[in-house]
Amino acid sequence: MNAVVLREVGGDLALEEWEEPSGVVVDVRAAGVNFADVLIRRGLYPQMPELPYVLGNEVAGELDGRRVCAWSAGGGGYAERVEVDPAWVFELPAAASFAAGAAFLTTYLTAYVPLTSIVRAESVLVHAGSGGVGSAAIQLAKHRGAFVYATASTDEKREVARRMGADEVRGYDEIDDLRVDVVLDPVGGETFTRSLPLLNPLGTIVAIGFTSGLWHDPSVQWLVGRNASVFGFYLGRLLRLAPELVRERADELLSLWGEGAIDPLVGATYPLADARDAHALIEARRHVGKVVLEP
Ligand SMILES: NC(=O)c1ccc[n+]([C@@H]2O[C@H](COP(=O)([O-])OP(=O)(O)OC[C@H]3O[C@@H](n4cnc5c(N)ncnc54)[C@H](OP(=O)(O)O)[C@@H]3O)[C@@H](O)[C@H]2O)c1
Repeated sequence: MNAVVLREVGGDLALEEWEEPSGVVVDVRAAGVNFADVLIRRGLYPQMPELPYVLGNEVAGELDGRRVCAWSAGGGGYAERVEVDPAWVFELPAAASFAAGAAFLTTYLTAYVPLTSIVRAESVLVHAGSGGVGSAAIQLAKHRGAFVYATASTDEKREVARRMGADEVRGYDEIDDLRVDVVLDPVGGETFTRSLPLLNPLGTIVAIGFTSGLWHDPSVQWLVGRNASVFGFYLGRLLRLAPELVRERADELLSLWGEGAIDPLVGATYPLADARDAHALIEARRHVGKVVLEP
């Protein structure tokens, strides 16, 4: 079968003949491109896999005649077929496209698990609101009744955040006057530090990602003094440590999707053979929503 093989750090993403997977195998119709895949290709991911490696851990496709979305057992998603972990296979809602199916699990759970764990979230600031996690977070926070602010780097991206449901959109350097119960932050770096003083008493900032740079540790004294919390979130570890909780939340999300309350944003699709262009789009910071590969 054909697969996109990464042979060395920084190497090309070329379509090659690759061995057939075994076990529970999904016929891939769409493979999600996660920011982590870009980090792996560049050698910057904290848990680097051994190379050569087929990127991609999130797919939608067909399994025994069923339309499913799934996480793979360990990469392999940028391919015509992939072995998936049977514990993490979910039936797609009838109206969902495969592309949307590949844009769903990681982004929505990353926003939903923290949002459903935080008691007070009447106002929410979502950073990188046009991105994969950000666009999911806006939809979910709105659905839970919050007033939602979102940031993004360009007018075009801010418009996307608005279309996803944000009540108010801002640039990253236009947030200092905001006061919110929750900040959902996939950006990290200076944006994380600048967001801490925006928290209302008993407010929470959720540290999700570091697309703009690693976090500067906040002072615990400062957090105590301000009645503020930092909520660290890492879905990969939660899948291993609390699988029942994640499954419950995933089932709730699938119900919401089935009812039409949420709808994953697919910003661009590329043929599998053009995986390098998909990565280039993300690295140039020009994508919105989720980028998806189609075999
Ligand atoms: N903790 C977890 O379990 C978990 C799960 C999923 C994803 N993540 C992480 O969350 C982050 C977002 O993931 P995603 O897949 O949803 O990506 P994404 O949002 O689609 O893309 C990254 C976003 O970061 C923003 N950004 C801000 N500063 C940037 C910079 N200096 N360079 C590049 N982009 C910058 C960009 O929006 P603007 O141009 O508008 O700034 C862009 O939309 C990643 O760090 C990812 O690894 C973590």
